[in-house]
Amino acid sequence: MTAVEKAVVTSCRMLLISGSLRTSSTNTAVLRTAQASAPEGVDAALYEGLDGLPHFNPDDDAEPLPPAVADLRALVDAADALVFSIPEYAGAMPGSLKNLLDWLIGDDHRGSIAEKPVAWINASPRGAINAHDSLRKVLGYASATIVESACVEVPVTASMIGADGLVADVTALERITDTLSTLLAATKAATPLC
Ligand SMILES: Cc1cc2nc3c(=O)[nH]c(=O)nc-3n(C[C@H](O)[C@H](O)[C@H](O)COP(=O)(O)O)c2cc1C
Repeated sequence: MTAVEKAVVTSCRMLLISGSLRTSSTNTAVLRTAQASAPEGVDAALYEGLDGLPHFNPDDDAEPLPPAVADLRALVDAADALVFSIPEYAGAMPGSLKNLLDWLIGDDHRGSIAEKPVAWINASPRGAINAHDSLRKVLGYASATIVESACVEVPVTASMIGADGLVADVTALERITDTLSTLLAATKAATPLC
């Protein structure tokens, strides 16, 4: 996006990326809730292509890109900030999410995650410390800008999710919305045009 195009954009665009492929995922529910209750000034989109990404292979990182990778990079390029919510599997982040991040590494292509403001909502009632340590490590390698103040723990259990697939618990809902507000403020400070 050019500076002129950005100047006419009034909302800060956030791409929400769940690390779970499960239909009844709590992490996806958290991000769906973030999208539905996004504060004013935020245009949030839920990424839905995780399941369709090919395995990362540097040989395939060339034009024409696999369509799912081109779509992902276009979404990341258009986003002013990214928000993750991920489960822990066997002491680390899910392999599918690591695969997604591998496609976003590098500062020589559009859709790179380098210098992109990022945050996460840790929804695990068990802490999922290892998953988030590994997420932090990979985002660091990728030179993403981790907005620490917007990285929060909001434990969510299945019983806190309503029939509409949204987090019904009022306290959790407020904290999810607050996270986006914090990320919005930080992103605006770093990217005045968003
Ligand atoms: C194969 C497998 C391994 C798991 N390993 C861990 C783990 O190491 N640490 C942990 O806290 N939870 C672990 N869990 C629990 C998941 O992180 C938890 O069910 C989470 O809520 C799943 O996220 P979702 O509801 O968004 O799909 C594991 C679950 C599965 C199925």
